[in-house]
Amino acid sequence: MAYKITVLGTGYVGLVCGVGLADFGNSVICTDIDEQKIALLQKDIIPIYEPGLEEYFRRNRQEGRLSFEPDVAKAIREGNIIFIAVGTPPRDDGSVDLTYFEEAVKTIARESETSKIVVIKSTVPVGTARSVEKMLKSLNSSASFSVVSNPEFLREGKAVYDFFHPDKVVVGTEEESAREIMRKIYRPLYLLGTPFIFCGFETAELIKYANNSFLAMKVTFINQIANLCDAVGADVDTVARALGMDGRIGPKFLHPGPGFGGSCFPKDTKALVQIGRKYGVDMSLIREVISANENQKRIVIEKLRKLLGNLTGKIICVLGLAFKAETDDVRESPALDIIRLLLAEKVYLHVHDPKAMENARKILGGTVFYFEDMYEAMRGCDALLILTEWNAYRNLNLERAYQELRGRIILDARNVLDPVLAKEAGFVYEGIGRR
Ligand code: UDX
Repeated sequence: MAYKITVLGTGYVGLVCGVGLADFGNSVICTDIDEQKIALLQKDIIPIYEPGLEEYFRRNRQEGRLSFEPDVAKAIREGNIIFIAVGTPPRDDGSVDLTYFEEAVKTIARESETSKIVVIKSTVPVGTARSVEKMLKSLNSSASFSVVSNPEFLREGKAVYDFFHPDKVVVGTEEESAREIMRKIYRPLYLLGTPFIFCGFETAELIKYANNSFLAMKVTFINQIANLCDAVGADVDTVARALGMDGRIGPKFLHPGPGFGGSCFPKDTKALVQIGRKYGVDMSLIREVISANENQKRIVIEKLRKLLGNLTGKIICVLGLAFKAETDDVRESPALDIIRLLLAEKVYLHVHDPKAMENARKILGGTVFYFEDMYEAMRGCDALLILTEWNAYRNLNLERAYQELRGRIILDARNVLDPVLAKEAGFVYEGIGRR
C-alpha cells in the first residue's frame, strides 16, 4: 500500500524520514519554510551531512517518489498523511519553543479540505498531541483529522541506519484506523521483525523524553566515574568494560568525554525537568544530570590548567568542533563551550574539524584561527586538546605532531589516543579517567 505523504521540515530528521518513507514505496513531498533549503534539494543538493543519505536520496528522486515543494500549503493539500518534523528548539528557561510547530499545525488546519492523518515526528512536550487534536478540530470542523505521536530515535551521523533499523517503532494514537495506517506505512520494518509499541499520546511522548534523558544520564554517570578514576588512579576503560558486561547495563554509551551535546540531549533533559515542574513532579535526578554535564566542560579546563599552568597567552590546538564524530553539527557542542571558556582566559586557539568547521565559524567568527590541515593547526602550539572522537584524530601521527607542536602536552578529552604510544612519542598525555 503506497500513500501520499507530506513531510514538513527538512532537517536531519525530516529529510531522512522523507527519503526513508519514499524508499518504503510511498510518494513523498518534502517541504520547509526555508525556501533556500528546498531550492537546494530540488537541485539534488543535500544541505546536511548524513552518511548514506545520498544513495537513498538519488534512487528515490530517480524513481519519482521524492519531491520538494517550497509552497508549504500546497504540499499539505497534496498529502493524505502529514508528518510534522519541524524544529522544536529550547527556550532559555528550558521550556520548548513550539512556534514553528504551532505554525505548521495552523497551516495544516487552514489548508486541509479532506481528511488527514497528522503524524507528530518532532519532539514535543507531553500533552502536545492531545492539544493538537483539539486545535485542528476547532480550527477546521469540516475536514476530519487523526493525530499520531510517532517520536524518532535517530542519532545524527547514523540517522539513515537508524531509520531502517530502529530498535522499536512507537505509535501513540487513540484511533484504530490511524494505528492500521501506521502499521502499513512502516510495514517494511514490521516484516523485519521490528517491535511496534502502540500506546496513547502521552505515553508515546514521554517514551521519547525518558529514552533520551536516560541516555544522557548514562553518559553523565560514566563521566563522573571517569573523574573519580582520575582522582583514585583507576582506569575508566576497564571500569566501563566491566559495567558493560552486566546485561542490565549494556556496553553502549559508556564513553567518557567533555559532556554531551547535540540538538537533543541538552534540550530533552531540560524539557523533561520543565514537564516535571509543570505537573509538580520532582525530576531532580535529571536536573543533576544537566548541571553535572555543564560542570564536565569546566573539568576539562581545570585539567588543562593543571597541565599547562597559567592559561593566559598560551596557544592551544583544538581538534574537534562537532558535538560528536560523523556529523557537521555543532549545536550545543561541548567543544564550543570549552572554546568560549578558553577565550575568556585569553587563550589563542587553533581549531580543526573534518566536517564542522563552516558551522563553527558561523558561531565563533574570527575569535579563533581555523586550519584545514590538523598538523598545521598544531604548529607552534603549547598543547593539543582533542574534543571530538573523529577517526582522523584516533590515527594521529604522533611523530608529526611532536615536530609541529611547541609544547609536549596532549589532553585527550575523548580518550581516542593510545596513552602508551603518546608517552613513547615524548608527550605528557592525559585522558579522562585513564591510567
Ligand atoms: C540522540 C539519541 O541517541 C537519539 O536516539 C535521539 O533521537 C536524538 O538524540 P544524537 O544527539 O544524534 O542522538 O547523538 P548521540 O550519539 O546520542 O550522542 C549524544 C551526545 O552524547 C553526544 O554529544 C555524544 O558525544 C555524547 N556521548 C554519547 C558521550 O559523550 N559518550 C557516549 O558514550 C555516547
